[in-house]
Amino acid sequence: MGMERIDKILSSQGMTGRSGIKALIKAGKVFADGKLVKRPEEKFDPAATQFTVDGQKIGIQQYVYIMMNKPQGVLSASKDKHARTVIDLLPEEMKRRDLFPAGRLDKDTEGFILLTNDGVLAHKMLAPKSHVYKLYEVHCDRNLTSGDIQAFAEGIRCGEQNFLPAEMKIIGENKALVEICEGKFHQIKRMFHAVGTEVIYLKRLRIGGVWLDETLDAGQARNLTNTEVIELLNRIHGIQQAK
Ligand code: URA
Repeated sequence: MGMERIDKILSSQGMTGRSGIKALIKAGKVFADGKLVKRPEEKFDPAATQFTVDGQKIGIQQYVYIMMNKPQGVLSASKDKHARTVIDLLPEEMKRRDLFPAGRLDKDTEGFILLTNDGVLAHKMLAPKSHVYKLYEVHCDRNLTSGDIQAFAEGIRCGEQNFLPAEMKIIGENKALVEICEGKFHQIKRMFHAVGTEVIYLKRLRIGGVWLDETLDAGQARNLTNTEVIELLNRIHGIQQAK
């Protein structure tokens, strides 16, 4: 991790912003390995230092991975002047200043969105060559056919835009599961539009090998388990596992 300023280290843990940390330091409430910290510019190795703030030991967690069941009507963004975002929905104790959604779901799409501060994972997760497939439940406005399955399997062409082959499984009247490894703008809606049907409901159920936790109500979130984090990390580093 290397050496970092103490105000940066502690504010990244979400308890308070940098000015709040400065005030705590000024008040003599911050200790590093038992020694009073006097200035916010002092640098420490967060992985090798025990910090105490106001008498409480602080465990430094570098990366966080949160699964949220995004409701419709909420933006996949960190901040927005007008609309509620997925970050706004997090309970206070899960909020950190550096969190962002890894990839986007449309405002009217619901389901699994990953919130993290791990930029490398987010970037790789979205790259098609990492083969992190995302599974969606799709409801549309007509019956789907084996012709649609085939068109998706061959890769949809839509004007200038080509989409990689995608697997479609019909699960009911006007309903399918579709798996894609790209994350192009409105991708699922545009693929369905290209075969002559409109999407009327869209929910993401799985990212890589990690399923949306069915016990999460819309708007609720939880940390990924260690097994789930390892599953995602293995996948983006090219260790393929069974779906
Ligand atoms: N494809 C879409 O069209 N919208 C989403 O939100 C996700 C995938």
